[in-house]
Amino acid sequence: MTGSAQNDRYTTNNVGIPVESDEHSLTIGDSGPILLQDHYLIEKMAQFNRERVPERVVHAKGGGAYGSFQVTNDVSQFTKAALFQPGKHTEVLARFSTVAGEQGSPDTWRDPRGFAVKFYTEQGNYDLVGNNTPVFFVRDPQKFQDFIRSQKRRPDNGLRDNDMQWDFWTLSPESAHMVTWLMGDRGIPRTWRHMNGYGSHTYLWVNAAGEKHWVKYHFKTDQGIEFLTQAEADQLAGEDPDLHRRDLFTAIKGGNAPSWTLHVQLMPFEDAADYRFNPFDLTKVWPHGDYPLIKVGRMTLDRNPEDFFVHIEQSAFEPSNLVPGIGPSPDKMLLGRLFSYPDSHRYRIGPNYAQLPPNRAHSPVNSYAKDGPMRYDIPRTARPYAPNSYGGPAADTTRFGEIAGWEASGEMVREAYKLHRDDDDWGQAGTMVRSVLDDAARERLASNVSGHLRNGVSRPVLERALQYWRNIDKALGDRIATQVNGG
Ligand code: NDP
Ligand code: HEM
Repeated sequence: MTGSAQNDRYTTNNVGIPVESDEHSLTIGDSGPILLQDHYLIEKMAQFNRERVPERVVHAKGGGAYGSFQVTNDVSQFTKAALFQPGKHTEVLARFSTVAGEQGSPDTWRDPRGFAVKFYTEQGNYDLVGNNTPVFFVRDPQKFQDFIRSQKRRPDNGLRDNDMQWDFWTLSPESAHMVTWLMGDRGIPRTWRHMNGYGSHTYLWVNAAGEKHWVKYHFKTDQGIEFLTQAEADQLAGEDPDLHRRDLFTAIKGGNAPSWTLHVQLMPFEDAADYRFNPFDLTKVWPHGDYPLIKVGRMTLDRNPEDFFVHIEQSAFEPSNLVPGIGPSPDKMLLGRLFSYPDSHRYRIGPNYAQLPPNRAHSPVNSYAKDGPMRYDIPRTARPYAPNSYGGPAADTTRFGEIAGWEASGEMVREAYKLHRDDDDWGQAGTMVRSVLDDAARERLASNVSGHLRNGVSRPVLERALQYWRNIDKALGDRIATQVNGG
């Protein structure tokens, strides 16, 4: 038998050397001291101690799958991005998640769900890192860390705390739209397959002629929207805490590949200045009546990852991965996120995270990055600087400006967004309560809120919370107050 055939059959250590035992450490006599020269034992113990990378600081519990995106409708007059050209087929990786819970937390806790998609395009990776909600709790990245801390565990007792959540929300009225969403039916989807995904932020699209539109993305589930009631979710949290992860894996394994139809809303560049809502405020939607949905294509997830850690835990999504034809908007939250994600990946996974299987571009990478821990891609040139005269890559300056942007000028300030005609913190939440929900959905919303408020929320915060709901909708607020007070 040749050496390599032997290695196929027998356990080896990490560098292919056959090991002597899977069971017994090397000792002097059967109960003698363990010898330092048993380095297979040492390798096993040391490797085990390093098996974890830190969990994501938010969105720690999740799952995902590979698949593809097929363009079905022609939107080439709005963007020149290669992945949205007619007929284009692009491989994708999607990861779904809850936000506040840790790795082992139940999938059915009430929380927004992450909806992150990485498109492996011919122009590099394009990441759309959204949620199952079209809006968010805050509109300035200064408040994101505070918001998250109010949802996570208290430093003194290690417990999550409804009082802390309502304290932050009621002192941050811009949260009203998102909190209404969260406390309603869609706050606990039946499965990840039964929820929509939204890019949430406004982005910029640029076409081949340089014309610009602001764009919002909506992935609508082809499985239909389904939700769990609070009572069902509470029970399932005990019976099957991994329900959503299991559901996605099992559906794909059984040949039941879920899909979502991607639509966009498009706003001509010039409309933004006078639109009735600030179009870059992440706590607002663009009503469909103002900017109707336009169909783009379909995403299908049909391939489970071979290894959960390699492909899902080590996946690194980043809103800064924008390809030519697509750019950011003046949404301050989005601009904050452009920094935050790659920074988090460098810490959580390591500086060479982009070389790992789920993060590798499927197009050539000609970057000048070099060295660092765990690097294995060989740089294209031995002269690691630009410009150089030894054949290293050079930027294609004729394409300058292809990455979409906008012009800005003014004083340096720390200010809230300028209000547009119909801007306030309560209006769109109230519209949802009065015009979108039916009576039964309003009753479930009231009951979800009052149940939450009855659980550990102190008096001054509770009073503010009741006023918060009356500001959204007087009748709903009164109904919640009655329920909280035992009526
Ligand atoms: P529309 O009547 O055109 O749209 C209402 C949308 O609400 C539906 O299309 C659906 O979005 C969503 N919806 C339905 N049931 C629920 C629910 N139980 N919880 C949360 N969302 C639900 O109205 P407008 O576009 O004028 O918007 C009115 C209000 O609807 C907004 O103030 C906002 O609160 C909410 N909304 C608006 C969205 C938008 O992008 N315009 C998106 C989602 C909600 P979908 O089709 O995406 O499932
Ligand atoms: C994950 C920061 C707002 C969606 C993360 C992570 C960080 C972060 C640090 C962990 C990344 C990792 O370790 O892999 C921020 C900041 C925000 C913000 C600073 C605001 C300023 C948002 C918003 C959305 C969102 C508005 C949705 C519209 C997600 C998703 C993930 C995530 C889906 C998980 C990605 C994955 O599946 O790996 N965020 N976030 N975040 N965030 Fe945000």
